[in-house]
Amino acid sequence: MSESESPPPLVLLTGATGYIGSRLLTGLQDQHINVRCLARSPDDLPDDLASTTEVFQGDVLKPDSLSEVMTGVTTAYYLIHLMGSGAGFQELDREAAENFGLAAKAAGVQRIIYMGGLGDESDPQLSPHLRSRHEVGQILCSSGVETIEFRASVVIGNGSLSFDLIQSLTNRLPVMICPRWLATPTQPIAVSDVLDYLLAARELPPGDSRIFEIGSSDVVTYGELIQIYARLKGLRRWLVSVPLLTPYLSSLWLGLVTPASAEVGRHLIEGLKNPTVVKDDSALDAFSIRPLGVEQAMRQALEEEQS
Ligand SMILES: NC(=O)c1ccc[n+]([C@@H]2O[C@H](COP(=O)([O-])OP(=O)(O)OC[C@H]3O[C@@H](n4cnc5c(N)ncnc54)[C@H](OP(=O)(O)O)[C@@H]3O)[C@@H](O)[C@H]2O)c1
Repeated sequence: MSESESPPPLVLLTGATGYIGSRLLTGLQDQHINVRCLARSPDDLPDDLASTTEVFQGDVLKPDSLSEVMTGVTTAYYLIHLMGSGAGFQELDREAAENFGLAAKAAGVQRIIYMGGLGDESDPQLSPHLRSRHEVGQILCSSGVETIEFRASVVIGNGSLSFDLIQSLTNRLPVMICPRWLATPTQPIAVSDVLDYLLAARELPPGDSRIFEIGSSDVVTYGELIQIYARLKGLRRWLVSVPLLTPYLSSLWLGLVTPASAEVGRHLIEGLKNPTVVKDDSALDAFSIRPLGVEQAMRQALEEEQS
């Protein structure tokens, strides 16, 4: 490389052992992008990584493990949540985002791309999980590094925590007794569309930090989501709405039938009462991506499951 040439862009990927991060890693590798994965347990990453991918051991709760990993990075993906860490997860998520933002700023990282959750910030009933997702976005943004935040509802795909919840409920229970959240509107999105957005965000022209709300072309209720899934699976399901069933009691029985860890499942279930719909559609202007409808997204997930 001559002195006048700048080094090729280096992308830092966190959460590469997770649902979205592992798929994004494949997408980045397919585009021959130089990737550095930060993982708490590098052994959990696939063995067949591309030659353009390197792995650093680190933990966002350990600031000392972050400075070296940021060196030379142009874009850093933050695809982490600490919902599985117990009751104080909001505090840990806050601390993790602060550590990450500080290290990124100090190393001169040009852009952070973060995936968070939809939900109305002004709603006093917003679940602790969704509120924490928004807070993490604010912390990353206030680090001074340009931050692109995506906010999404349920990500439809095989293995996605929130979609797993819908799947396991529908697969296991012919009759569901549900509280009001059956009628909560949501705007899920196919994982393939999420990945397109995350990849395209690298190419946005530099500018101010921005929030993009993303969702499929359909707004559905959780009840409709369950019924669409049941129909595609050839299952007959009866949903009985019992408005007096408290969300707490509901979360107890939901916890019994979902595969997500009880801790993570409970935080997700708490958010079912909150509408998660796109109110600002500026993503449709900024990107050429046109997300799939809910049914198409589910068909894609089921095909993936079968293959
Ligand atoms: N999946 C969905 O339906 C959905 C919907 C909307 C938004 N999102 C957002 O998308 C992002 C990614 O979600 P996901 O579904 O891919 O989550 P996930 O599968 O649970 O993965 C979480 C990742 O975070 C990593 N992590 C946790 N604590 C860490 C720490 N202290 N240091 C470094 N890494 C740590 C985990 O690594 P280990 O292997 O070490 O545990 C894992 O790779 C999250 O911000 C989530 O809120 C997801």
